[in-house]
Amino acid sequence: MPDALAVQRRFSATQLSLDFPALAQRVNGHRLVYLDNAATTQKPQCVIDEVARCYIECCGNVHRGGHALGARASTAYEAARTTVQRFIHAAAPEEVVFTSGCTAAINLVAHAWGDENVGLDDELLVSSLEHHSNLLPWQQLCARRGARLRLIPLDERGELHLDTYAEWLGPRTKLVAVAHVSNAIGTQNPIPELVRLAHRVGARVLVDGAQAVSRQPVDVRELGCDFYAFSGHKLYGPFGIGVLYARRELLEQMPPFLTGGGMVDRVEPERSTFAGLPQRFEAGTPNLAGAMGLARAINYLEEVGLDGVMSHDRDLLVHARAALGQVAGVRLIGNPSRALGVVSFVMDEVHPHDIATILDQSGIAVRAGHHCAQPLMQHFGAPATVRASFALYNTRADVDALVSGLARVHEVFGV
Ligand code: ALA
Repeated sequence: MPDALAVQRRFSATQLSLDFPALAQRVNGHRLVYLDNAATTQKPQCVIDEVARCYIECCGNVHRGGHALGARASTAYEAARTTVQRFIHAAAPEEVVFTSGCTAAINLVAHAWGDENVGLDDELLVSSLEHHSNLLPWQQLCARRGARLRLIPLDERGELHLDTYAEWLGPRTKLVAVAHVSNAIGTQNPIPELVRLAHRVGARVLVDGAQAVSRQPVDVRELGCDFYAFSGHKLYGPFGIGVLYARRELLEQMPPFLTGGGMVDRVEPERSTFAGLPQRFEAGTPNLAGAMGLARAINYLEEVGLDGVMSHDRDLLVHARAALGQVAGVRLIGNPSRALGVVSFVMDEVHPHDIATILDQSGIAVRAGHHCAQPLMQHFGAPATVRASFALYNTRADVDALVSGLARVHEVFGV
């Protein structure tokens, strides 16, 4: 495996792709061109090795075993937490809660914070470009509490209507929930500005960072948000691990969501007291392999350098938008002025699922559908799109392969 530190000086996606064994395989007889990174990223060998190391060297239960393997497990788990803290610039490790993923992190806030802080006739503002996992928990919270959910509208580019947002914020607004980067069209939302306005009326802000953390440096204190959620598997890490960042004073006021082992202080037959932060929110045996793998993925990304990753991502996006714009019958969906990682399009007379199937025959992996963002799709009047989404190992040649693949779509459908 090449030493990522060595490539940091000059970013080379081709060189970095050698770190990812899955990319060496052939699919349907062709070189794999993996452009579904918004769904999940491939994993570098170092992450795969770290997950294996967990099961070989550290397979004890975290914070539970009075023996060497248990101690190793606990040390590795807390070291992973510190790595995440440093990565997102949280003030303390206690502000980092491990969850099973981004969805679980958002649901944790909707229950533990939402049920305590949202009441009858309160309002939640959620952007119209959210992934369903940052919409449905709030719909359910509103239904439980008699509160009202309002979707912040978008303009024709696929950017938030900031005037309407500012107008809607008021004393009844309890929470704003918004993606850092849209999973369906790549819009990069102006989080510090959204937070500043929300905090003026005393509302809290939750940011879904699932598509952002792998593509840009994230500093939760600079963003100013109250909650920040993301998954490991979209960050070159393993499945089944995610993170909720929350400011300490909010976590301190939140009751536990899931209860059981590992999150208690003292248990009596009829009542119990709970552990401190962040264990209070981590009931059950933690996903140690996930946490270790995630920490290794973060180290890898830091070694590569997120600034380089971000400018490479922007370059690919500009190239993809220009190249796809030249393909007959292709219509790009959304045209955000600030975007990362994702481009969506439709093609005259061919369904997105058919396009994805034909591309797959040439080894090109894209996602087709509504991308779990149906309000956004309704805004653009497109029930489904084809989505190409990039990672640090993609190259302009991958984009060009996609464009060539679309020529085959023309051939097959005679359009
Ligand atoms: N959230 C993932 C996506 O956008 C699954 O594809």
